[in-house]
Amino acid sequence: MSTRILLTGGAGFIGSNFVRFVLRERPDCSIINLDSLTYSGNPESLSDLDGEPRYRFVHGNILDLELTTELIKECDVVVHMAAESHVDRSIIDARPFIESNVLGTQTLLDALRRADPDNTKRFVHVSTDEVFGDLPLDQLEVKFTEATPFAPSSPYSASKAGSDMIVRAYCHTFGINACTTNCSNNFGPYQFPEKVIPLFVTNLIEGKKVPLYGDGKNVRDWLHVEDHCEALLAVLEKGAAGETYCIGGNNERSNLELTHSILAAMGKDESSIEYVTDRLGHDRRYAIDATKIKRDLGWEPTRSAWPGALENTIKWYVENETWWHRVKSGEYLSYYEKQYGGR
Ligand code: NAD
Ligand code: TYD
Repeated sequence: MSTRILLTGGAGFIGSNFVRFVLRERPDCSIINLDSLTYSGNPESLSDLDGEPRYRFVHGNILDLELTTELIKECDVVVHMAAESHVDRSIIDARPFIESNVLGTQTLLDALRRADPDNTKRFVHVSTDEVFGDLPLDQLEVKFTEATPFAPSSPYSASKAGSDMIVRAYCHTFGINACTTNCSNNFGPYQFPEKVIPLFVTNLIEGKKVPLYGDGKNVRDWLHVEDHCEALLAVLEKGAAGETYCIGGNNERSNLELTHSILAAMGKDESSIEYVTDRLGHDRRYAIDATKIKRDLGWEPTRSAWPGALENTIKWYVENETWWHRVKSGEYLSYYEKQYGGR
């Protein structure tokens, strides 16, 4: 029997990759993509699917209870990834983060209960490792697991932790059939050029410098977006109700190391780095122990190995200038930079 997926936030970075991945890997699946098209939602990221009978785009907000109830009734499962996603923006204005990430998730869960009172429909809540706060740089053996307590640092991560808690509460109180995933930093095609990799790559193509925050020693665990999509599909199909799964690339890099790799791949040198004022409350290190998802669902990353995966991503931005040019104006400065000025 074919599976009908309601995907929220499918016009964003991970969502557009997920649509393409699922339609390719599961010929029996169809997708309805509900997206409100905020600044980071870009229907052009899915323009190659025009006319695809297994794909439908619905322009709407997850805060709309009536719309989401009707759409869930049409589908067998829900994959929820609509969110405000950028830490720097949340530092400037937290309100949209609370609205979309916290209230939006709660609204969607109420729609799920209305559309599916018997709790038959699987709901996958896509979240981040940032809910766990950060780790020290000098204890590399310590990583986040499903048992790590929440300690979010930024308004973004606090809003995601809030959404995770609401999903847990609805599982406990109402018995909804939900799983939550907490994933590390993704990279790959179609990422909005405010996030560090596409920002740095496109800056260098434009002959600009790359703004490295603070001392550049902060560490992130980088996962290719298609590895994330494959993990989400595994959780959707095989995850146990009420469970949480940590997803990571086992690929820790300091921002300085990342920057040097990008510079080398693009034939640039140190002089392209501009050390700028650190992000407020900047988390030092994220790292995931993905033992549980490997043990229980048989997933592990296969597409994230460096330098190849990073170089292929850089190549994508080099070859798809029209895509990112439309979302990044000629005089583009990061949103954060525009607000704080003079960095
Ligand atoms: P993104 O900003 O590229 O995309 C978010 C999408 O959600 C956009 O298309 C936007 O229009 C849509 N959206 C936002 N608010 C909405 C609303 N109220 N109603 C309907 N649509 C709305 O983000 P992304 O990087 O693709 O992240 C997707 C999800 O994955 C988020 O929940 C994020 O927290 C999570 N996540 C991201 C990463 C990462 O490295 N990018 C890592 C772990 C988890
Ligand atoms: P980002 O891509 O914003 O992801 P997140 O904050 O969710 O991890 O940032 C990744 C890392 O890169 C983070 O440590 C902050 C750093 N960074 C810079 O040094 N300069 C920049 O211009 C940006 C956007 C991020």
